[in-house]
Amino acid sequence: MNILLTGGCGYVGSVLTPKLLDLGARVTVVDIMWFGNYLPRHQALRVIRQDIRHTDNIPMGGVDAVIHLANISNDPCGELNAKLSWEVNVLATMQLAERAIRHKVKQFIYASSGSVYGIKEEQEVTEDLPLLPISDYNKTKMISERVLLSYKDSILVQCVRPATVCGYSPRMRLDLSVNMLTMQALSKKKITVFGGEQTRPNIHIQDITDVFIHLLKQGEKSPGIYNAGFENMSIKHIAKKVTEFVSAQMVIAESNDPRSYRLNSDKLLNTGFQPKHGVVNGIKDVIKAFQSAKLKDEDGCYNIKTMKKMRI
Ligand SMILES: NC(=O)c1ccc[n+]([C@@H]2O[C@H](COP(=O)([O-])OP(=O)(O)OC[C@H]3O[C@@H](n4cnc5c(N)ncnc54)[C@H](O)[C@@H]3O)[C@@H](O)[C@H]2O)c1
Repeated sequence: MNILLTGGCGYVGSVLTPKLLDLGARVTVVDIMWFGNYLPRHQALRVIRQDIRHTDNIPMGGVDAVIHLANISNDPCGELNAKLSWEVNVLATMQLAERAIRHKVKQFIYASSGSVYGIKEEQEVTEDLPLLPISDYNKTKMISERVLLSYKDSILVQCVRPATVCGYSPRMRLDLSVNMLTMQALSKKKITVFGGEQTRPNIHIQDITDVFIHLLKQGEKSPGIYNAGFENMSIKHIAKKVTEFVSAQMVIAESNDPRSYRLNSDKLLNTGFQPKHGVVNGIKDVIKAFQSAKLKDEDGCYNIKTMKKMRI
């Protein structure tokens, strides 16, 4: 199987790529490499440094499935340069899908985001509820989904709405709640919780990468949109969990991020997917990587710091 993986050098992609190679797939990664490239060399892996906005340069011949991760991938980065976010997250996604259809690619899997729900009081947030995206980032995800689903008669479209991901990746992100709070405890002995009452779902990086593989294998049996998040926890609860493993002082600060929602992922579970990891594994991963000096609290682990430094 030939897979085109955009954003394969990112946090999720750096764990997903080796898994796809282990399955025997031939993988072409297209990534602009803003955060570097930590992918190991492999005879079945081709890595191309390329901006996905130049869609004509993306090799699509012979591709069976596209897994599309390359996006400006959080709220602050989305706000840093809104035009860039709309170009990369929406326009390029549309052009990529059209190019895939022209090349008779059968399957297109998109990393949307659970944050498209915005603020939701419901205990069970299922895929059919109306979306209330707040930030540009959330809005680009919602619109890309709609654009992609408009092609569903020409290509199999599967949109994943991941919860906040946690756990270790060779391209590490410390701007994600579990990872960030654990690193604060480790490096500063103090955890600053903004707000704290907002509830957000979580998913371990090994599970979200397995979700992409599961949907790839499911193919036509599982079209459409899937929530992917299994532990709905308040930020304060996550911080408390962290302090069970690393002693640290907890400080509550005012938050300007009201997003609060739970995810119900029964639709995904009903396709036969079972998560195997969780928040506690994510916390332990970060601790282990820090203690073995594999991980440091560096600017490169924070997307916004890197993008500002690069004047993107
Ligand atoms: N990590 C999470 O918690 C999470 C949660 C929900 C959704 N997602 C989505 O999953 C996807 C992967 O997330 P991630 O955490 O790996 O993010 P990431 O920022 O680590 O990875 C994104 C990758 O895309 C690349 N990229 C960005 N713009 C590009 C462009 N114009 N052309 C080519 N490459 C480009 C970057 O260089 C980076 O390697 C993103 O679409 C993100 O929005 C992530």
